Parts: sequence; structure tokens; C-alpha cells
Amino acid sequence: MKKITVGIIFGGASSEHDVSTVSAKSVIEKIDKEKYNLVLIGITKQGEWFVYDGPSDMLPEDKWLGGSIRKGVISPDSLVKGIVTENGETIHLDVVLPVLHGKNGEDGTLQGLLQLAGIPFVGCNSTSSGVCMDKHFTNAVADSCFISQAKWCSFNSYEFSQNKEECLKAAEEKLGYPIFVKPANAGSSVGITKAHNISELEQGMIIAFKEDKKAVLEENIDGLEIECAVMGNENPICAEVGQIKPCNEFYDYEAKYINPDSELIIPANISEEKRKEVKELAVKVYKNLGCEGLSRVDFFVRKSDGKVLFNEINTLPGFTPISMYAKLFEAVGVSYTEVIDRLIGYAISRGDNY
Ligand SMILES: Nc1ncnc2c1ncn2[C@@H]1O[C@H](COP(=O)(O)OP(=O)(O)O)[C@@H](O)[C@H]1O
Ligand SMILES: [Mg+2]
Repeated sequence: MKKITVGIIFGGASSEHDVSTVSAKSVIEKIDKEKYNLVLIGITKQGEWFVYDGPSDMLPEDKWLGGSIRKGVISPDSLVKGIVTENGETIHLDVVLPVLHGKNGEDGTLQGLLQLAGIPFVGCNSTSSGVCMDKHFTNAVADSCFISQAKWCSFNSYEFSQNKEECLKAAEEKLGYPIFVKPANAGSSVGITKAHNISELEQGMIIAFKEDKKAVLEENIDGLEIECAVMGNENPICAEVGQIKPCNEFYDYEAKYINPDSELIIPANISEEKRKEVKELAVKVYKNLGCEGLSRVDFFVRKSDGKVLFNEINTLPGFTPISMYAKLFEAVGVSYTEVIDRLIGYAISRGDNY
């Protein structure tokens, strides 16, 4: 059987660059080398593209930049279907696996390039990726599809600067304290704060606007944090349901990546019946947001009444060996290697029918 050439894109001009290099290292280590040829494409934090020919353990901490690299980009020209390097050489790609998180990777921009290039790729198309990345648009679509979630509102930095008092008052009245303040487009909890009073709310808006020109404010949900791994195109499936127990007041950046005391519990500590309800809802969210390939769909199960409330969706979730997505499939007997294989299969079967 002829091997399939997979372009693995890692790094990226995003605040989640470092998570991406760790994710990509394990994807490269675990992918079936009998079946796939790999072409590694690294994007620096500044947005420079290189083809990298060295070992995967050089990826974390950007050691690959000191290794065997040459300039190369994916051409938007759909007759090329691959990479053009600095000396004009072309490298054909059968399929692309973007192992990028956050801005410029998970937000539809890279997906748009791959659609222009006519190269099949793993994951949601550009529209779906963009909507899922932007928490304002995600929440608006969820409301329109009658998916239960926290009460919310959204302001952009211009309207906030023009009508600060009115915006703060409207948010207080609609949501009540504590209020979660989030950049609409970010990830890994970067720029998210929990405001307990008006001065923290105002401060939180300033912090959120450092990451994005739009902020989303949400009512605080006192609940269990639940995560679902969904995969597929027309008939997506949901693997096991997991639970996060953050070691901090909420699942902030330090609780996610620095402090080892946050716990992942698989399966989630909720009844069998509730797990079934969450899985069905995860598939509903996935379909309504136009997802294909994969996504991790996150919920809260409210402590007071057990209601399941949608929180957010990640179209390119973390892929480190300890990441929830792979673990949730492992829990239903699908290995990490098999997950990657299936994802590439979904990309190829979709082809250029985005
Ligand atoms: N409405 C909310 N109520 C309670 N906790 C929240 C709420 N929104 C976010 N959080 C907390 O903040 C964390 C990060 O928020 P999230 O919306 O998932 O952003 P990110 O895309 O950065 O992961 C969540 O995992 C949760 O711990
Ligand atoms: Mg999250």
C-alpha cells in the first residue's frame, strides 16, 4: 500500500504555541509510521513558516529552530497541493493535520488557507472553526439552537470605552456577581478573570481586551466541569465523559498547565443517566456548530439542580499524552494511535467537500 503523506503543522503565532509543540511531539511519536509519511511544518511565535527535518523531541521549548530547517509555506494555489520551499521545490501533501491551538490555527484562518489549497485536513472547516473559537458567536449559535448555557452578554472595546458605566451596569443587572470575564477569542484561560465586584469587573474588562477587542461576560455557574470528546463527520460519536477538578478557584492557566494538583476523572463522577444526557448534548452542540473531524465539548453540571449547561467547544483540543481528548477515547478502547488514524480517515473521506 502506498504511504499517505501527512503534513503536521505545529507551533503557531498564538498564546498557545508552547502547548502545540508538546501536542505535536506526541502526535509524531504515536502516528502509524507504516501507513504515513510525515512532513513537519513549524510556525514560529512571530508567524514564520519552516519545514523541519529533525527529531520530534526538539519540538518542546522550540529547540527545533536550532535544528534542520528551511523556509517553506503551504501554497494557496490548488494545483500545487502542498508546500513550496525557499528554493522553489514543491512537496506534495495528501492531507494536513494541524496540531495548533488558539489564534491563527484553531480559528478558521489556517483552515481557510487549506481550503484554498484544496488539501484535505483534519478538523472543522473555516466557518465552523471561526464560530467555535469566538465565544460570543458560539454562545449566540447555542442560544439559537436552544442549547442551555450560562446567562451572558458581550461588549467590544470601542462600545465599552464609549459607554463604560452603562455596560458595567447592564452586565451586573443581567448576570449578578460573581461574573466571568473572557476575551471572546483566546484559549487556555488566558485573559479570563472572575469578578466579585464592580472594580474587579472593570479590571477584568481591561485584562480581556488585552487578548481580543471583544469580551464575553457570563453568570457564574457553580457546577462540575465536564468534558466530552466527539469525533466524526455526518454521524459523530461521543467517547467517555470526563470531569475536571481544578486545583484553583476556577480552571485558570496555572491550574491547567503549571500546578499538578488539578485532577482529570474518567468517567465523570455523575450518574450513568447524566453521562448519557451529556453525550447526547455534546453531539447536538457539535452538529449545530457545523463541526467535522473532532472537537472537545465542555459543559457544567450545575450543583443545585443537576442541569447540564454548555460552556465551550474546542475544535483542536490539546493532544499531549495526558490531554483529556485522547484519554476519553482510550477509556472506550480506542488508542491514541487509532484516534489519529481515524481523524486522518475523516479528513480524507471529506476531501474538498467542506
Ligand atoms: N460561566 C462560568 N461559570 C463558572 N466557571 C466558569 C464559567 N466560564 C468559565 N469558567 C471557568 O473558567 C475556565 C476557562 O473558561 P473557558 O470558557 O473554558 O475558556 P478557555 O477557552 O480559555 O478554556 C473554565 O474551565 C471554568 O473553570
Ligand atoms: Mg475551556
